[in-house]
Amino acid sequence: MALQRTFSIIKPDATKRNITGAIIKKLEDGGLRVVASKRIRMTREKAEGFYAVHKDRPFFGELVDFMISEPVVVQVLEGEDAVARNREIMGATNPDEAADGTIRKEFALSIGENSVHGSDSLENAKIEIEYFFNDKEIVG
Ligand code: CMP
Repeated sequence: MALQRTFSIIKPDATKRNITGAIIKKLEDGGLRVVASKRIRMTREKAEGFYAVHKDRPFFGELVDFMISEPVVVQVLEGEDAVARNREIMGATNPDEAADGTIRKEFALSIGENSVHGSDSLENAKIEIEYFFNDKEIVG
């Protein structure tokens, strides 16, 4: 086990429904600590850059339009094995496949409007954290 940091986004479907607190409670109850957080409205350029790895996928345009449609909450989460732990707490990308008790099982509306994003590796967590936060904004 190792203390790690990972990156999280509470997505527009969740900010719109005013369930950011319910989602953060699941993260905290699961053993993760919020060490940085800000509510922002992503620009199209920022969203396209963040999801650049998906730019050739058929859902890319829809994904970017969705991510800029309402505010999001970007966060840095810290804890033991935080990358994997966060993904366990979130559940599968498709809410139909997500395990009981996970954020996506309880809150996601569809595979696109799936309430949260979480880094898929420690390497990507570092890149994604740096895309949104500077060192002074992270207070562990
Ligand atoms: P996320 O973890 O943010 O990473 C990429 C996102 O693309 C994913 O969550 C989904 O919200 C979205 N996505 C993945 N597959 C599809 C799909 N088939 N249709 C629409 N959006 C998708």
